[in-house]
Amino acid sequence: MKQASQSKKNTNKNISLLIDGAVYPLDIVTGTEQEVAIDISRLRADTNLITLDDGYGNTGSCKSAITFIDGEKGILRYRGYPIEELAKHATFIETAYLLIFGELPKEEQLLQFRKLLNDQQFIHEDMRHHFEGFPANAPPMAILASMVNTLCCFQPDFLSADEDTLFAEDAARLMSKIRTIAAASYRKSVGSPINYPRSDLRYTENFLHMMFSLPHQFSDTDPEIVKALDQILILHADHEQNCSTSTVRMVASSQANLYTSVAAGISALWGPLHGGANTEVIKMLTALLESGDSVQTFLDKIKRKESGVRLMGFGHRVYKNFDPRAQIIKEACSTVLQKLNIQDPLLELAIELEETALTDEYFIERKLYPNVDFYSGIILRAIGIPTEMFTVIFAIGRMPGWIAHWRELRTSENPRIYRPRQIYTGETLRHY
Ligand code: ACO
Repeated sequence: MKQASQSKKNTNKNISLLIDGAVYPLDIVTGTEQEVAIDISRLRADTNLITLDDGYGNTGSCKSAITFIDGEKGILRYRGYPIEELAKHATFIETAYLLIFGELPKEEQLLQFRKLLNDQQFIHEDMRHHFEGFPANAPPMAILASMVNTLCCFQPDFLSADEDTLFAEDAARLMSKIRTIAAASYRKSVGSPINYPRSDLRYTENFLHMMFSLPHQFSDTDPEIVKALDQILILHADHEQNCSTSTVRMVASSQANLYTSVAAGISALWGPLHGGANTEVIKMLTALLESGDSVQTFLDKIKRKESGVRLMGFGHRVYKNFDPRAQIIKEACSTVLQKLNIQDPLLELAIELEETALTDEYFIERKLYPNVDFYSGIILRAIGIPTEMFTVIFAIGRMPGWIAHWRELRTSENPRIYRPRQIYTGETLRHY
């Protein structure tokens, strides 16, 4: 059995499968944080059986050295660094560098990466014309996915992007241009002229400038607000094998280029059960506020599973205790609202919902806690980001994670195309 350098066989456990009296020993793989998996890669060849795991809740799809999560303990680490430390001390660009290249950047490396980001921040003039083709009310996530895919057309050397020298440039190109595209899609949607990026501004401030500056009038943003948005990007930067990242890896496994793989990730992120949840939280809070229903009445509806309604921003496939990102974001939320002197009734409602749900047997039993999306929308709203752009912000934040996973897959030992199997439940043979 092939093993990644960071994982080893656990010799303390023996696992075998007993089928009709025949014994099939199975290898155990242990990660650096002592997570253990049964290696079933030879199962079908040896036994003619496959495993069935709807929604992949119990499937390890790969070995990865990028992000570690312990859902029971509420731990999230990028390349070994706790999310709390990165959110407090690092910038989004340092965090992105860490995820993509494996180590925090030294000063010189950071300068070099910043230069690459600056060099790559403009989009081709012909691409700017593409914005004219979208209707004014086009969903920004649709524009984002299309435009990121379109980048391939303007990048003739993308096919060799897995070479070292080109990879750093490609990574910077995607990170920098997604921000320019995102801001341009917003400006287009409100009928305002598209702002050019500015080389004298750092990553997040530059994004806010492109979003909000008026012609000849620079939108000077408070450093604490810039920091809050930077922190949101850090908190979203990676989350191991989630739906969109698995999609990026799936597409990358066919040896598709980085841009196309990431464009597929953006589409996966759009769904309301994934990155779209931050938008849904605000819609849910607004509807609840307007309905005049009490929090308890609303929660009772959810518990009765009325027309599939869920408490958006609650629950997580992996976190079964608390989402560490939600805790950081809740704190940032109060800071931002205080700084901007905003009294948001949605925040008060969110706090009441959280407190009530956390003492309710339904949510306790199912280990449902607020996730990162529960409070992030309230900060973004306070900063002036429109609801339709929330998931786009998530995509900007997740970009370094997608890039890192694409790279990890493409440079792994013996990369194979992802191709799950199935149990067929349709008609048996019939004739025309
Ligand atoms: N509100 C009410 N009930 C819920 C919720 C919720 N938010 N989440 C799960 N449940 C219930 C389910 O109805 C189910 O109940 P049952 O056992 O009586 O059938 C049980 O909890 C388990 O739910 P699953 O759907 O099996 O959990 P899963 O791990 O598949 O789903 C998910 C995780 C998609 C995040 C889910 O909790 C959810 O829909 N949450 C709301 C959407 C959301 O906030 N998504 C953002 C996730 S974080 C991110 O992507 C950044």
